[in-house]
Amino acid sequence: MPNLTEALATMEYGPSPESPGPALDWLKRAPFGHFIGGKFTRPADLFDAINPAAGAVLAQVSQGSVKDVNRAVTAARKAAKGWAKTPGADRARALYALARRMQKHARLFAVLETLNNGKPIRESRDIDVPLAIRHFYHHAGWAALVEDEFPGLHPHGVCGQIIPWNFPLLMLAWKVAPALAAGNTVVLKPAEYTPLTALLFADICAQVLPPGVVNIVTGDGATGAALVDHGDVDKIAFTGSTEVGRAIRGATAGSGKALTLELGGKSPFIVMADADLEAAVEGVVDAIWFNQGEVCCAGSRVLVQAAVAERFIARLKDRMARLRLGDPMDKGVDIGALVHPVQAARVGSILDQAVEQGAELHLAGTAVGNFCPPGLLTGLGTSNIGWSDEIFGPVAAVMSFRTPAEAVELANATRYGLAASIWSESATVAMDLAAQVKAGVVWINGTNLFDANAPFGGMRESGFGREGGRAGMLAYLAAPAPSGKERKALAAPAPLPGDEGAGGIDRTRKLYVGGKQARPDGGYSFAAPGGAAPLGNRKDIRNAVEAAAKAGGWTGLSGHARAQVLWFLAENLTARARDFAALVGEKEVAAAIDRALYWAGWTDKLEGRAADTVSGHLTLALNEPFGVMGVICPDEAPLLGFLSTVLPAIAFGNRVVAVPSQSAPNAALEMVQVLETSDVPAGVVNIVTGAQAELAAVLAAHDDAAALWVFADPATCAAAERAAAGNLKPVWAEVRARDWAGAEGRAGAFRANAVQVKTVWLPYGA
Ligand code: NAI
Repeated sequence: MPNLTEALATMEYGPSPESPGPALDWLKRAPFGHFIGGKFTRPADLFDAINPAAGAVLAQVSQGSVKDVNRAVTAARKAAKGWAKTPGADRARALYALARRMQKHARLFAVLETLNNGKPIRESRDIDVPLAIRHFYHHAGWAALVEDEFPGLHPHGVCGQIIPWNFPLLMLAWKVAPALAAGNTVVLKPAEYTPLTALLFADICAQVLPPGVVNIVTGDGATGAALVDHGDVDKIAFTGSTEVGRAIRGATAGSGKALTLELGGKSPFIVMADADLEAAVEGVVDAIWFNQGEVCCAGSRVLVQAAVAERFIARLKDRMARLRLGDPMDKGVDIGALVHPVQAARVGSILDQAVEQGAELHLAGTAVGNFCPPGLLTGLGTSNIGWSDEIFGPVAAVMSFRTPAEAVELANATRYGLAASIWSESATVAMDLAAQVKAGVVWINGTNLFDANAPFGGMRESGFGREGGRAGMLAYLAAPAPSGKERKALAAPAPLPGDEGAGGIDRTRKLYVGGKQARPDGGYSFAAPGGAAPLGNRKDIRNAVEAAAKAGGWTGLSGHARAQVLWFLAENLTARARDFAALVGEKEVAAAIDRALYWAGWTDKLEGRAADTVSGHLTLALNEPFGVMGVICPDEAPLLGFLSTVLPAIAFGNRVVAVPSQSAPNAALEMVQVLETSDVPAGVVNIVTGAQAELAAVLAAHDDAAALWVFADPATCAAAERAAAGNLKPVWAEVRARDWAGAEGRAGAFRANAVQVKTVWLPYGA
């Protein structure tokens, strides 16, 4: 008989399968129709939902047609008014009831999720389902608080929500719970591979919610596209690939639909030499190997400091060889099946290409069918597909670096900006890196931590908008349309005639770029009041963005230091009041001076939040400036509109390329002297006058301008949104005139849109 040590060395895990029984019983109701207006429709145009681990068909569900989407939107619209008017306390009760019932059926949800998705039961049972339930509890709370906590805001109306297959129930919860809490109704389209837990959720909705408040239409991308294109949907919320996110940005441009996008990522996982290496190895296990790597925020680019790289890689290889790949219904299994043969083929193809491009692939086993063993890619360069592209499989790419500065540079050398994981025993070093990494979520000495109260979402091509917590609620609330009711959309300003043939034109005014007066590349227009105005073009915008990009020192200043500059600006504007009055009238000048004081006052007061999430974790929701912002200033208020938009943007640390009023650009150009006497550093405010529609599109398409505000006519707003589909920058576009002199001109939206939330998680414990 072996002694204990020998037995431990050879002991194999016995199987420990979870029973699929209750889920299979529930599936006997298949085939499924859609859930519309509180009832399931007759199944039609069926397709298979499979179990990717067994390769078997689990059930058939319906492919949603344009007609189905129409019916669902109609049902949601019919329910919208009543649900929005339902007292917050009653909406809270309904969300609470959803949470309770999900909890009651938690096991059924977990088993069904694992059967349909292929992820280990341990993941769905211990992580996905509890987090989804937590999300409904948390948002039951918001439903009760929304009226007091978000005064003046209202629900969008009907929200179209499209979700992916990697966290089917959790993504549903992230979308549905805040929408309902805020008083919206919903049409949700689950991913075609994983519709089943959404249909189980529909069962619960039927018991708890008024008909039409939640509608679920199953189907593929065509069904999703029909929802995006529907004219009576007020907001689209999408999680999925960057490619489809781009298509949705393009399709919704100019439609007036609100939009949030949570897209792909290729998140850095930075290991400093002083990190707890054992913990960091387990971090990689959590970040990339569990859940088969099918996680948008997976820390799939592992950057390890050279001094410990060899040791760390050896430990990773050792660890991955001991992970258990197999039947996801087995409670002892670490890695299950990829979601679908299509996805397995995609992962295989990316790995092949990575190897062809020179990477070394270390797999802890052989890929068979939908099962892919955990792996590492080493010896690759930054242009290797394994380093640059989302693999969405359980394979991490590893690279070493020497200095923290190099780590930041490598971390940020990507078009994505979803998440980052930083490992160091020095809080000083970790926070320094966290501040510099371009990512919406940063985990220090941890990874893949989520909570309903922690905002989640990306920067750059990882999308915009946040899910979770206060920031997530804001994404489901709309501000009243400027100046209320009947005010019509703005008319486009008259085109600016060029100066051909206009002899004797005064060419003294210049653009303001990088702290210098610049001759406009596009010549002059003689039509502006107050003398000829320069016509900036694409090249001038490019120069201005470059100048703004160089003025990063402004962003690093304290709020107090920036406030000094804004106070001084208000003072200098006051001294020049008479000159400006000649251009725009005394009233506008007086309001502009007040506005400058107002933003000087705000500059050092924009607070972030310490969110209550998981015990033993400090979770900070920080407000971070975008960096370089474009601002298309309102045409109708040449001075006041310019200052009401440019000042909040720079107050919180952005540098701006502003395109002032097209009809009356000279008031903004007069501001150049005030900016200079006020010590606004070169490049912080750049002014390019000219045709707003054209310049808006150029700014929208420019990769180095991270956000854009457009206060203009519908065509200009639409052109900007369309042009932003390439780089997916957030565009705040408003087609109606604000009452710039009143409260609307200094609304909270200027603060909210001047920054993006970065959530930093810092676990503690001696
Ligand atoms: P996808 O972006 O095509 O699918 C996501 C959802 O969008 C699904 O519900 C799909 O039916 C829907 N959809 C597809 N085309 C649409 C359209 N034109 N209009 C509206 N809705 C549309 O993602 P897919 O093809 O399932 O996965 C491909 C890759 O995308 C993955 O390998 C991964 O790299 C990435 N991905 C990223 C996710 C994330 O969480 N960021 C989630 C899923 C996939």
